Amino acid sequence: MTRRLSVRLTENISEMLSYINENRDRFLNELLDLLRIPSVSADSKFKPEMRKAAEFVRDRISEAGADRVEIYETAGHPVVYGEKIVDENLPTVLIYGHYDVQPADPYELWNSPPFEPVIKNERIYARGSCDDKGQFYMHIKALETMLATGNLTCNVKIMIEGEEEIGSSNLGSFVSAHKEMLKCDTILISDTSIIANDVPSIETGLRGLTYVEVEVRGANRDLHSGVYGGGVANPINVLCEMIASLKDEKGHITIPGFYDDVEDLTADQRAALNAAPFDLEEYKKDLQIDDIMGEEGYSTIERTSVRPTLDINGIWGGYIGEGAKTVLPSKANAKISMRLVPHQTDEVILELFTRHFESIAPASVKVKVTPHHGGLPYVTPTDSVEYKAAEMAMEESFGKKPIPTRGGGSIPIVALFEQELGCKSILMGFGLDIDALHSPNESYGLFNYYKGIETIPLFFKHYAALKNPAKA
Ligand code: BES
Ligand code: MN
Ligand code: MN
Repeated sequence: MTRRLSVRLTENISEMLSYINENRDRFLNELLDLLRIPSVSADSKFKPEMRKAAEFVRDRISEAGADRVEIYETAGHPVVYGEKIVDENLPTVLIYGHYDVQPADPYELWNSPPFEPVIKNERIYARGSCDDKGQFYMHIKALETMLATGNLTCNVKIMIEGEEEIGSSNLGSFVSAHKEMLKCDTILISDTSIIANDVPSIETGLRGLTYVEVEVRGANRDLHSGVYGGGVANPINVLCEMIASLKDEKGHITIPGFYDDVEDLTADQRAALNAAPFDLEEYKKDLQIDDIMGEEGYSTIERTSVRPTLDINGIWGGYIGEGAKTVLPSKANAKISMRLVPHQTDEVILELFTRHFESIAPASVKVKVTPHHGGLPYVTPTDSVEYKAAEMAMEESFGKKPIPTRGGGSIPIVALFEQELGCKSILMGFGLDIDALHSPNESYGLFNYYKGIETIPLFFKHYAALKNPAKA
């Protein structure tokens, strides 16, 4: 028997809430099973687990009641897709998420193994619990709830990829090759954070990214630091000086042209951003730091959202074993990321960085800049139908109107979606800063998991009604 799909315009919200409540434990246990699969995209030794995670996601999307559920191969890790088209005349929402996770290293800093989820203090501890397994799984459970109770009011397409944490470099060609399949009116993504559980918010922007690796080479071999020391370049010293020169004493980045395209916010926009609740003392206390540091003339909120950055993510070279070894290493390396804001582009910044870094190298060394991944920044207006729908959904489930914020993180495909599919993404995330994304002991609150499952159907309800006011 096929399930009856009545497209009611007065959805039965309490019916959906009861369904979620009745299935509470199963909804959690399924997520825990997904968290047990170490789907680390960056490390090829987890390739079989990546496949396993994709199959797990495919099966759960299928069980939720979607059609055309399939795993699509890419040049990298596979993409999972499914859809439920209820009526050609209804708006279509594309759900996006990622089943890959960041490496769990350093393992010794975890209080419990990263791929053996435990629930403690009402939180799920595991790699990927928040970013992004816990968050995209809410959509699969919300879809199940809407279908099982006959309350789905939009067409749904769902695409969960496996390469977000390594830059989504194969997803762009997947999207352009499947434009018709992915055609939609808006994109809904839960892969960002809210300010606090009693301060709901919606991110209206993401930063872009240019990520490079640099190498500084000196002599053709490691040298005795007494015999040669003082006479030739030490690549580590040189690399440190070069890196130090990339910022001035005001915290401005010194690469010529770096700020040329940076969008300057109006005084009103800045005031609105800075009106969001932020407690500097709490911030310092949480991080156990005595002071903050950043670009002069900007608040912490601005520094971490609407201003570009340059940071060393890793640096190595020379002797780091036990004891002391007197040596001049022949090379030194660093990984450097730059977060970008509208209207910077990763291509231009890569070019400017490379040219500048090569130009500041003394003749005593050779430098090589190797690009890794990149991505464009993104902003979405707050007066769109989809933003309104998300705002109304969150207001209904949290009992408070969400505050628009600008996020500091990056989700590279979001700008590409806009280019390829011509529609905006709504970043309706449910994480918190304390979730420790990418860190040891990542966690996700049970409150947030269930709140997400409850809020998503409300988005569909409001989006359908706003798109078709005549029927409402
Ligand atoms: N979900 C995050 C991005 C994020 C987190 C945005 C919190 C806003 C708030 C995403 O999985 C992520 O980590 N992206 C990477 C992108 C990179 C690997 C290309 C990032 O921001 O470093
Ligand atoms: Mn993520
Ligand atoms: Mn991430």
